Amino acid sequence: MCGIVGYVGRAEAAPILLDGLRRLEYRGYDSAGVAIVTRGHLETRKCAGRIVALASLMTKQPLSGSFGVSHTRWATHGKVTDENAHPHFDASGKLALVHNGVIENYQALKEQLIQGGDTNFRSETDTEVLAHLIGKLYDESCASTVDAPQKKARLLTAVRTALQQVIGTYGIALVHAEVPDFMIGARRGSPLVLGVGKEENFLASDVSAIVAYTRDAVYLNDFDVVALERDKFEISSLAGEIGDYRVSKVEFTAEDIKKGDFRHYMLKEIFEQPNTVRDAMRGRLSLEECTAKLGGLNMTPAQLRDVGRIVLTGCGTALHAGRVGEYLIERLANIPTEVEYASEFRHRNTPITPETLVFAISQSGETADTLGALRESRRKGFRTLGICNNVASTIARESDGGVYMHAGPEIGVAATKSFTSQLVILTLLGLLFGRMRNLSTSEGSRIIEALEALPGQIEEVLNLSDQIKAIARTYADVNGVLFFGRQFNFPIALEGALKMKEITYLFAEGHPSAELKHGVIALVRPDLPSVFIVPDDAVFSKNLNNMEQVKARKGPIIALTSGNGAKQLKNVANEIISVPEAPDCVMPILTVIPLQLLAYHLAVELGRDVDKPRNLAKSVTVE
Ligand code: F6R
Repeated sequence: MCGIVGYVGRAEAAPILLDGLRRLEYRGYDSAGVAIVTRGHLETRKCAGRIVALASLMTKQPLSGSFGVSHTRWATHGKVTDENAHPHFDASGKLALVHNGVIENYQALKEQLIQGGDTNFRSETDTEVLAHLIGKLYDESCASTVDAPQKKARLLTAVRTALQQVIGTYGIALVHAEVPDFMIGARRGSPLVLGVGKEENFLASDVSAIVAYTRDAVYLNDFDVVALERDKFEISSLAGEIGDYRVSKVEFTAEDIKKGDFRHYMLKEIFEQPNTVRDAMRGRLSLEECTAKLGGLNMTPAQLRDVGRIVLTGCGTALHAGRVGEYLIERLANIPTEVEYASEFRHRNTPITPETLVFAISQSGETADTLGALRESRRKGFRTLGICNNVASTIARESDGGVYMHAGPEIGVAATKSFTSQLVILTLLGLLFGRMRNLSTSEGSRIIEALEALPGQIEEVLNLSDQIKAIARTYADVNGVLFFGRQFNFPIALEGALKMKEITYLFAEGHPSAELKHGVIALVRPDLPSVFIVPDDAVFSKNLNNMEQVKARKGPIIALTSGNGAKQLKNVANEIISVPEAPDCVMPILTVIPLQLLAYHLAVELGRDVDKPRNLAKSVTVE
């Protein structure tokens, strides 16, 4: 959510900043801007719209200089306008600041500044208030003549003093026209990474922005303040104490974040799933003991055995994975399991017993609500584990242990491959906990066989893409889509509806099939198709009854089935998509993929911006 890129080095900053913004555009894309110090003057270009609009503005009005900051915005405070786009400036116009997060007390700070005579605000944003505050503190500290090193130190002090007054979250980068070749970054609650180069250094909210220039990264912690020059950097605390840091190697390359031959990142990521599912279980299956090995949980066998309750928390797609996990863990391990929206969990007084284990599920590992839930759970003393994709993320670092997805960077705003990786990991957890309890070796090895068969089966499902595209064309003028499923496939109905809403903007809802007759059936009509997820399993005939109820009311039906299901659905469904057979607990990994493809093809048919759907942003780092 919002992207920051900063550069200080010897090269021209503008192309590096623009390139970084393009790679971060999936994090926010309503406006963008760049500020570069050119011969002692701060110059900016910013505008509402996509990076392409900013790039064309910069072609007409180029900027030259070797240090600067840039930003792509997802609006929180203030409308989407040129004025509200970042960077924002202090009253003198010499300091430029970009910011991710929310300054909660910005109104109070603004009042103070206004009372002090500063009325020169040009935007409605919280960020501009912070820029003014830092600028004021800096100007006051430089009232008498100071030399260059003193200016650096005073700017740093001004940043620290201002941030100590801030309530809220921030990831910031700033430059000042009077302090050449110098940039400051700081974070609290919004990710910020320092890229270490040769005679150049970078700041970014996400390492993908800078991985084309360096793979050496320092992931900043909350309350870190970093001062960067071309050939050195220093990390300190908000209180000014010099801190420790570790330079890590970024685990992917710039090549990994290219679209390749695919039209969209989302399609590329859907087609990566045979590999990502394989990677999620690689080295984690023990054929001999018919169980899973998850060393990252950091728990002894006795601790694993004594887990009495599990809480799975997350947001959006990650929450839907948790909902499948609830069925899985209860089925395989018979441990009471609950799923809780992260945003609700942290504010609710959920009774949790001492033997409860909490999992925070998050692709990005930076989602503010999930991070809040993790912190609340740890504050109360519960062992809290992460299921994350981003290994350097805050959730991964702050949890007591966990399991990485190893799915590679997910750029498409709609989550796809991360979901199936989460499902694999939750199956592994069900298997592990089950085998610590009553799950037999034969049941354990049946699950392992099913997991190992998945990559090949996913290839078969991906071969259905053309059939699904044809279905999408047939239904391109519908007014919405309903999704129904039972048991393990009820959460898949929710996920199918979420994908549909996100990228087609069509009305879509997911429900347990049997809920149909308790109200939803009132919506059924000829221009509103129902997608039924009905694998050939124990609840097939019950699903069939619900489909008949829809058919009787002239609602079109798209059925997603397996095995012999297709034969039995011939006279009920208008369209039938058939996936390979699998045990019911791993079936969601196969049934969700046609729904990802259906949403994708329908969105393309409707001319939507699939990778950057309106109003959305990847990685929601504000509450
Ligand atoms: C849906 C989607 C969102 C995310 C949610 C959580 O396609 O992408 O619903 O799943 O914002 O994100 P993470 O998993 O990064 O915590």
